[in-house]
Amino acid sequence: MWPTAALVGLLVAGAAASPAGIASKDHTGRVVRKRTTETVQLYAYGTNISGLPIYAGSDNLAYLATRDAATNLTAITWTIDTTGVDAWTVTANSTSTSTNATSSLTSGSSFYIINSSDSSDSFVQAGFVSDASSAPTGATTTGFVTYGSYVMVVNETTADQQTYVSEFWATASGTDGLWTLMWNKAGTVQDNSVPVTLKTTAPVALTS
Ligand SMILES: *[C@@H]1O[C@H](CO)[C@@H](O)[C@H](O)[C@H]1NC(C)=O
Ligand SMILES: *[C@@H]1O[C@H](CO)[C@@H](O)[C@H](O)[C@H]1NC(C)=O
Ligand SMILES: *[C@@H]1O[C@H](CO)[C@@H](O)[C@H](O)[C@H]1NC(C)=O
Ligand SMILES: *[C@@H]1O[C@H](CO)[C@@H](O)[C@H](O)[C@H]1NC(C)=O
Ligand SMILES: *[C@@H]1O[C@H](CO)[C@@H](O)[C@H](O)[C@H]1NC(C)=O
Ligand SMILES: *[C@@H]1O[C@H](CO)[C@@H](O)[C@H](O)[C@H]1NC(C)=O
Repeated sequence: MWPTAALVGLLVAGAAASPAGIASKDHTGRVVRKRTTETVQLYAYGTNISGLPIYAGSDNLAYLATRDAATNLTAITWTIDTTGVDAWTVTANSTSTSTNATSSLTSGSSFYIINSSDSSDSFVQAGFVSDASSAPTGATTTGFVTYGSYVMVVNETTADQQTYVSEFWATASGTDGLWTLMWNKAGTVQDNSVPVTLKTTAPVALTS
């Protein structure tokens, strides 16, 4: 039989395998990961969506678009806390790289998803809000984490038990190359929509 100290060592080693790679436990015994802030670009991948950047619309909602369809959308750069404690914020790229952007996006706005408690299957477009207090009902601005290059959301079941979920979906807008970025709380099938994976890695350009 192993001494207790060895078992504690094993538990810590197990926790260190959690997403951010570095973990410890706080006084309540809950796993706490070391906070890391990174500046990244986020890209969506799914059927017919091969690594499209996320843009902010003039309505401050989140879109996926090909370069040709990005008219009036604002290209953004993300500052993310990989542990999910702090909100993920965005700043507009310099206007020279944007296409007629008319966004009222405030620098440092927080990304949100709607995970409304009013509806078990809410399916609502994600967006950006300058101040958490003005976020729409049911909005969540924290709990976004990275698992390797994948963006996941903490689904807190109990204080000491967390699972990571990704229920990002894209809905075709009707304009070629333009999708709205949705959060599909229940993950149920939706019209004109496909699940997408968000990653911090850009698509690799294929040459033929
Ligand atoms: C993907 O694109 C092909 C070709 O344009 C189309 O036939 C197909 O329906 C698209 N699939 C989805 C899920 O949008
Ligand atoms: C920007 O707006 C001008 C005038 O409305 C238009 O001529 C031009 O095509 C637009 N450019 C893009 C990239 O959408
Ligand atoms: C872009 O915005 C301009 C000015 O508000 C508008 O006239 C134009 O129709 C918009 N284009 C698209 C593709 O939404
Ligand atoms: C926004 O700016 C970043 C940093 O310059 C760049 O890597 C990214 O491609 C830009 N996004 C778009 C959609 O142009
Ligand atoms: C969404 O809401 C449910 C309760 O309605 C909750 O159990 C779950 O953790 C929430 N998920 C996220 C990602 O916030
Ligand atoms: C998130 O947690 C809730 C319990 O709080 C559970 O009912 C739900 O199935 C979980 N969601 C996913 C996608 O695992």
